[in-house]
Amino acid sequence: MPKVWIEKILNEPELYLLRVDDDEVKYFEATWEIPEGITYNAYLLKLDNSVVLFDTWKKDYTEEFIDALSKLVDPKEITHIIVHHTEPDHSGSIPKVLELNGYKAQLIGTSFGKRILEAFYGSKVVENFYAIKDGEEMKIDGKTFRFITVPWLHWPDTMITYITEDGLMFSCDVGGGYSIPNGIDDSNEKVVQKYLPYVTKYIVTVIGHYHKHIIQNIEKLKKLGIIEETKMILPGHGLIWIKNPKRIVEYYEAVVAGIPKKGKILVIYDSMYGFVESAVKIALDELKKHGYNPVVYKFTDKEAPAVSDILGEVPDSEALIIGASTYEGSIHPRVKYVLYDIVDKTNYNKPVLVLGAYGWGGVVGKEIRKILEKSKFDLVDTIEVKGSTTKDDENKISEGIKKLLERLK
Ligand code: FEO
Repeated sequence: MPKVWIEKILNEPELYLLRVDDDEVKYFEATWEIPEGITYNAYLLKLDNSVVLFDTWKKDYTEEFIDALSKLVDPKEITHIIVHHTEPDHSGSIPKVLELNGYKAQLIGTSFGKRILEAFYGSKVVENFYAIKDGEEMKIDGKTFRFITVPWLHWPDTMITYITEDGLMFSCDVGGGYSIPNGIDDSNEKVVQKYLPYVTKYIVTVIGHYHKHIIQNIEKLKKLGIIEETKMILPGHGLIWIKNPKRIVEYYEAVVAGIPKKGKILVIYDSMYGFVESAVKIALDELKKHGYNPVVYKFTDKEAPAVSDILGEVPDSEALIIGASTYEGSIHPRVKYVLYDIVDKTNYNKPVLVLGAYGWGGVVGKEIRKILEKSKFDLVDTIEVKGSTTKDDENKISEGIKKLLERLK
């Protein structure tokens, strides 16, 4: 059974977190391996004459959601449901809430959100839907709700809600991360430190493809003065930011900018029969000689790391080394897939050295070059070895590493 949290966050206004810790999910979006799990956060605001629900949980946890919600309020009393984003990890329990509510509550979201919600759950769900305009303000029971669209964070439907009197920003996917933190907010630094790498992994896998929109939307919120004023960021996943709400915004900016950690070189390779591995080993020894700290992920006949974990390592790496076998006249399929996602989701101007190996014809260097030339990555060199590495190969690889490290000065 997943753990459920029902936590009072504020007395005035009366605000609650409803969180479920999904430790059953294995592949988020049926793609990203997350053994660390994820949380779905919804919020409930009880005002004098209104009850506002902000998002819900994934459909699989509808029963648990209704149980948790009913401990705070009779669903019939909910007057407004704010739908920040219609992806079913947040909208999945809306149909059941509405059914128990007697369809009296007003749904508030974007017009795009309305269309998606209808497509997912049918027309009855959107009978009482109010589509906001970007920047629109609405008074609910004396509070000013400001709705701001943040398209492509994570879908075109997405918006945030800012309650101006209290500085509360309900941000859904924005400011979220994977894993199940042992706490609800940023008050414990140890919890935050453990959580942040999962925020990086979440950013690159879920919204990395839309990285330009992360920058644009943060800029938009800054211009509106919301980042400066906000007292609390309440995301749809992971920790709530109360002690230092700007910290999560700055963290998102650093990930998108690819700010490197000194000395970290990411090494990714496949090795079917050890030939690529022996070339990579020369590179690793050379890196260590120069005081660098390689972080290594390898695909062999005994192991296959999670692509989501590899992607999470790219933003703070100084440089990358890609090792790949030639496979059926192309790049080894595992490395090809990783490369595709790296270029799509973590497209940074960072130096890359490619090490290839082949039996009867070298192709992999040329193929990887074609992919990287279309990206922001700075391809330093491609070095290919035929079978076992020779003394001459060793020298070429050492020189390649020196060239790579030169780029970091
Ligand atoms: Fe957490 Fe894009 O849904």
